[in-house]
Amino acid sequence: MKFYIKTFGCQMNEHDSEIIAGVLQQAGYQPCGELDAADIIVVNTCCIRESAENKIWGYIGNLKNAKYKKPGVIIAVLGCMTQQTTIGDALKRYGSHIDIVLGTYQQHRLPEYITRALAGSGQIVDISEDNRDFPDELPAVRVGGVTAQVNISYGCNNFCSYCIVPYVRGRERSRSLNAILAEIREAAAAGCKEIMLLGQNVNSYGKDLRKAGQTDAPDFAAVLKAACAVPGIERVRYMSSHPRDFSPELVDEISLLPQVRAYYHLPLQSGCNKTLRAMNRGYDTARYAEIIDRIRAKTPAAAVTTDIIVGFPGETEEDFRASLDFIARCRFDAAYTFIYSPRSGTPAAKMAEQVPLAVKKARLQRLTTLQNQISLAKNQAYIGQTVRVLVEGPSKNNPELLTGRTESNKIVILRGGAELINQITAVEITGAKTWHLEAL
Ligand code: SAH
Ligand code: SF4
Ligand code: F3S
Repeated sequence: MKFYIKTFGCQMNEHDSEIIAGVLQQAGYQPCGELDAADIIVVNTCCIRESAENKIWGYIGNLKNAKYKKPGVIIAVLGCMTQQTTIGDALKRYGSHIDIVLGTYQQHRLPEYITRALAGSGQIVDISEDNRDFPDELPAVRVGGVTAQVNISYGCNNFCSYCIVPYVRGRERSRSLNAILAEIREAAAAGCKEIMLLGQNVNSYGKDLRKAGQTDAPDFAAVLKAACAVPGIERVRYMSSHPRDFSPELVDEISLLPQVRAYYHLPLQSGCNKTLRAMNRGYDTARYAEIIDRIRAKTPAAAVTTDIIVGFPGETEEDFRASLDFIARCRFDAAYTFIYSPRSGTPAAKMAEQVPLAVKKARLQRLTTLQNQISLAKNQAYIGQTVRVLVEGPSKNNPELLTGRTESNKIVILRGGAELINQITAVEITGAKTWHLEAL
């Protein structure tokens, strides 16, 4: 029997899908690239914002057609959306055609539930938070090509007041350094040149292990150093870091690691101290500026990107302007910008002074206008420079060209043959756009 997986959400979810594919293949199912050909359809979901959820429910709704055409098809819905307290109601309203609903702690059970569903069990829902038998080693079928994603921790303890992740992914659990390194070595042996270390807050890696009595448990810097020491690994990235736990000393340590130091993603969320407090972020703009200044002092060529939310409850025009000023001061290479979306069960959703949607949209527009100017100027500074590009594959927009990334994680469109894929090549930058560079 064949399965098809549709993934929504972040890199964490993309990697979960690689694991789900691995678990299904181990159980004897074959992957297929087309929904229509599949006997099992798996939807891996995200609920970070309402817009994401609406899109996913639309997709799931359309699967009624697949069921109509092929009544025996099994539809399984997994991932963050299923772990919300509102899932029961949503299923009643939109999900009668779903066969299996599995929460984020039970994904490894999918084969067992497929067997039951095929035997005619009726709708199965398992969103239990009991993860005592969640295995540390699961087979992953990597689809990332040149980059291997490796979890260093699961869950999150931060409870930023807007965010649903701690509720749907549970408390932070660090994997053992041995398990992490075994996976990195395996990926390197398979030819991967780049490692992406995954965790909701990679900087607090190991805290839980130390609390549990493993006093010599490594910290995040130790994980980075160990990953860089694996032969064949040319680049190491991580996602995401938290400015509260990102010390200036960590910047000093990273600045000694050539595989890591050229790119930082450091989510700021807001450049206004009042808003940062209400978000429960645990740092202020002075602390953030200290980290950024240290990065630029130690590695002047490093690129820094960020995440920003506009329209958080209580954000006034004055607060938003303060945020824009701070963002202008930081001169980020790029910012991923979001309109605040109330998530049921989070403290911010209950706060008075929710900002009207029209105001949020106008603020997003002002922020992207500012950031696009900065991004373009930063990219234009690359023109004439020679950079080392790790080539990923054919360009999506023009398959005659290739796409790859600089050490600073900028996308580069370049000329060249397929033999360059998964190689590092030096090119001169000839053009710059807001979101990418060109070497043509
Ligand atoms: N743990 C990571 C990633 C969290 S999700 C981190 O802390 O950076 C990725 C981004 O989505 C966040 O950085 C935040 O900017 C945004 N986000 C999270 N919850 C949101 C919400 N309720 N509304 C709008 N954006 C949100
Ligand atoms: Fe959400 Fe904050 Fe945890 Fe990131 S650090 S996942 S924004 S609670
Ligand atoms: Fe990721 Fe979305 Fe879950 S951003 S952690 S898939 S809610």
